[in-house]
Amino acid sequence: MKEQALKELLNSLTWEEKIGQLVQLSGDFFHADQLAVGPQKKLGIDQRIVDQVGSVLNVTGAEKTKEIQDRHMAKSRHKIPLLFMADIIYGYRTIFPIPLGLGATWNPDLIESAYQQTAEEAKAAGAHVTFAPMVDLVRDARWGRTLESTGEDPVLNAAFAKAMVTGLQKDLLNGGGIASCVKHFAAYGAAEGGREYNTVDMSERRLRQEYLPAYKAAVDAGCQLVMTSFNTYDGMPVTGNQFLLKEILRKEWGFDGVIISDYAAIQELIAHGVAADDREAAKLAIEATTDIDMKTPCYAKELEPLIENGEISTELVDRSVYRVLKLKNDLGLFEDPYRGASQALEEQAFLTEEKRRLAKKVSAESVVLLQNRNQVLPLAPNKEKVLLVGPYGDNQELIGLWAVHGQREDVVTIKKGFENYLDSDHLLYTQGCDMLEDYAFLGEFGATKDQIEQLGLDEQMKATELETALALAQQADTIVFALGEHTMQSGEAGSRTDITLPKIQQVFLQKMVELKKKTVLIVISGRPLVLTKEIEQVDAILQAWFPGTEGGNALADIVFGQTNPSGRLSMSFPYSVGQLPLYYSEFKTGRPLTSPTHKGRFVSKYLDSPNEPLFSFGFGLSYSKVEYSELTLNSEYMNESLTISVTVKNRSDRSAQETVQLYIQDVTGSVVRPIKELKAFQKVDLRADEEKKVTFHLTRADLKFYTKEMLFEEEPGKFIVFVGPNVKETLEATFDLK
Ligand code: GLC
Repeated sequence: MKEQALKELLNSLTWEEKIGQLVQLSGDFFHADQLAVGPQKKLGIDQRIVDQVGSVLNVTGAEKTKEIQDRHMAKSRHKIPLLFMADIIYGYRTIFPIPLGLGATWNPDLIESAYQQTAEEAKAAGAHVTFAPMVDLVRDARWGRTLESTGEDPVLNAAFAKAMVTGLQKDLLNGGGIASCVKHFAAYGAAEGGREYNTVDMSERRLRQEYLPAYKAAVDAGCQLVMTSFNTYDGMPVTGNQFLLKEILRKEWGFDGVIISDYAAIQELIAHGVAADDREAAKLAIEATTDIDMKTPCYAKELEPLIENGEISTELVDRSVYRVLKLKNDLGLFEDPYRGASQALEEQAFLTEEKRRLAKKVSAESVVLLQNRNQVLPLAPNKEKVLLVGPYGDNQELIGLWAVHGQREDVVTIKKGFENYLDSDHLLYTQGCDMLEDYAFLGEFGATKDQIEQLGLDEQMKATELETALALAQQADTIVFALGEHTMQSGEAGSRTDITLPKIQQVFLQKMVELKKKTVLIVISGRPLVLTKEIEQVDAILQAWFPGTEGGNALADIVFGQTNPSGRLSMSFPYSVGQLPLYYSEFKTGRPLTSPTHKGRFVSKYLDSPNEPLFSFGFGLSYSKVEYSELTLNSEYMNESLTISVTVKNRSDRSAQETVQLYIQDVTGSVVRPIKELKAFQKVDLRADEEKKVTFHLTRADLKFYTKEMLFEEEPGKFIVFVGPNVKETLEATFDLK
């Protein structure tokens, strides 16, 4: 409807109808039968409120959303449609790799296509908004939600944030795609100790320089909503933080879309100790312009009394209500409350061959070859006996924790993928060992005692599996281990202080490698694990993350050489958990390891660990050897821009994809500057023996940072530019900025 009509609609609403638009409830409130009485009682609201709410959390399915929409609109005096919002983080029915794997593709264009396909499936299923992308910068692998992020670097994360929002919202205002809600604003990934829901506290300079760019990229790409994060920033929980929400997000960035709280985050202002009760919590949040209250009674019960007491203005609430109505109008919901969703469309859109092909391509580009001693990979199909073992060998649990709407039965297992290359004479398989030594922690996620007891192998089965694995290994030339963390050991509320492989798997691996066969380790995980032991035990290591619906096919294509691995880490892998948080772009210190003035003990280092990561940011091997040479700058000075080129040569007989990375160092600044910062990257295709010149254009804007005066600008002086296949192995040159 036209803007004028929308404004008239707003003005015709009662306060109850207006405030209803600012409340989001979960699906259990919208069943046709009386089941909802329980949830209503628990939340302290009644049906009158439910009948007015503006949006629903995590209900999808064309039929179900249509039924709820029809029932809800029938009770709405003005026929205001519901918004259906859901967690569709890295796929709807076709599940792509977890975002930490997507980050390892260094291929934003490819990921934009993946998110466009995701939006197509989700729209067919009646979703209007997805709570994605999650663009939180992460540097602490103890944090479970590392899985949902594209990694540790502001520039790389911003590139993916833009690509994901653009892919999700293609042709949005013409009825295409679904609305993107970027999250979790802001800096949620910096929780102290890597401990979930913990305090975040950092300088404004670090916040702006490192943690905000990806959210800004999402806003600049036109994301329709922003979700507030659970954490505090500078002593104030984000959901009530006027500096972040009003000053930066709305005033500086010009975002006038909907801000939605994270789950129950408004009422949690009480637990944070900045609100005494629901009313104070509601006041703090609405004054910070958090528009929608996800799943608490604060707005529903306290906004009207706050208005009546004159504690908040009617304009403040009207502005929030208008933003929600405008989003509904922009999505065309007043004209088509189902937005085209239908079962027929679901059948057409879900899990098509095209989508499976894309999922396999993305999965293949996400896998990182971390080690390939003696070039044991790729294996030759049907030329040698391969034993596949491990709890992930024939396991459809490859889609990770946040694949809420994915179906495990759609997943191609690693064993299934191997069967594309090995006949029954050449492929041996047994599970070999259990996933975990103890499943009791699953009780926190609702698993009953009985269910937990059913999980895993009993003692007899464990003994038999080990015996079988050892026996089969005698016949094998190569052993491929599919090991990793349990899917519930990562994701939300999945913080861990021991991020090595589960002990039971470590014991099994040690027993098996004593047989001195060629060995390949495939790691399934939602975070960088500490693989410091494993690099000594096995010949090759493939980091596969949770690789998604087509994971087994993608991994098989890499193991048997159909695909040349091209993944590059978007997050550093630690030697030990004691190094965390760990990231490449650390600031210079007064006593660096290479200090010319301080020797031995009195430099910045540990007594019991190297400073360096086990595997660096940007690192990844392939089956090719790509050489870098001829780093050239078109000038030794930069006025407005500088052209930087490098020659890359594929010294192998197979085509390769090479991610050429460009970093800089600002040698002297008005504040301390990082030793290296990624500024640009290009993923280039190289045919066998092909040599290519790769060119970058660096501009003054690329050199800007928050100066001593907190101005975002560049400062003249000397810069070093580094170009290479990862952050460590680089060619370098210098230039002066005039
Ligand atoms: C969860 C998560 C958030 C998600 C929301 C709705 O607690 O923090 O990422 O979108 O609740 O499910």
